[in-house]
Amino acid sequence: VTGVGFDALVQALDAAMVVATAASGGERAGCLVGFHSQCSIEPRRYAVWLSKANHTYRVALAADHVAVHPLRQGERDLAELFGGETGDDVDKFTRCAWEEGPGGVPLLTGGAGYMVLRRTALVDVGGDHACLVGEPVLATTAGSAGRPMRLTDVDDVRPGHPTDDPPRHQPPGSGAP
Ligand SMILES: Cc1cc2nc3c(=O)[nH]c(=O)nc-3n(C[C@H](O)[C@H](O)[C@H](O)COP(=O)(O)O)c2cc1C
Repeated sequence: VTGVGFDALVQALDAAMVVATAASGGERAGCLVGFHSQCSIEPRRYAVWLSKANHTYRVALAADHVAVHPLRQGERDLAELFGGETGDDVDKFTRCAWEEGPGGVPLLTGGAGYMVLRRTALVDVGGDHACLVGEPVLATTAGSAGRPMRLTDVDDVRPGHPTDDPPRHQPPGSGAP
């Protein structure tokens, strides 16, 4: 199957966009994410798929917690920062408002809220993204309301790390030189 019909169908779903953040080994990371969903009701579980090319993936691999922040219409600046820049080159957290959450995970403040997930599983299906599943340990909708930011609002943002980028640093324990 070529990507054409598949890509058009997925585009038509027009996923809501979030920013996923994590911290480990003295590093903070975060990226724009369209691949995410609740994946169990009882117990509650949420899944976030991270590109193996991303700085955020490498930091999140060694992190206990990941935070998920829904973006709203009007938060284009955050989408460009977290989707168009890479933590391999810039410190995104000097350019946005945040505070430390459980396990040091950066929580973006002033937005529509966030959930903090404690990781319960890591699923790698051999593709270019890996799935982090977590149980919610904190969730708040405090903050500005409004319509969600959607894929079609930001599909002109050029990813800071295209998925075919080789990882710049190998994760610890990967055995790679
Ligand atoms: C519309 C859009 C959707 C994206 N969806 C995802 C996603 O689901 N998972 C992911 O890991 N990266 C996704 N990205 C890519 C990252 O947000 C982007 O490459 C970012 O610059 C990586 O930053 P980092 O290297 O600091 O982690 C998306 C980017 C865009 C523009």
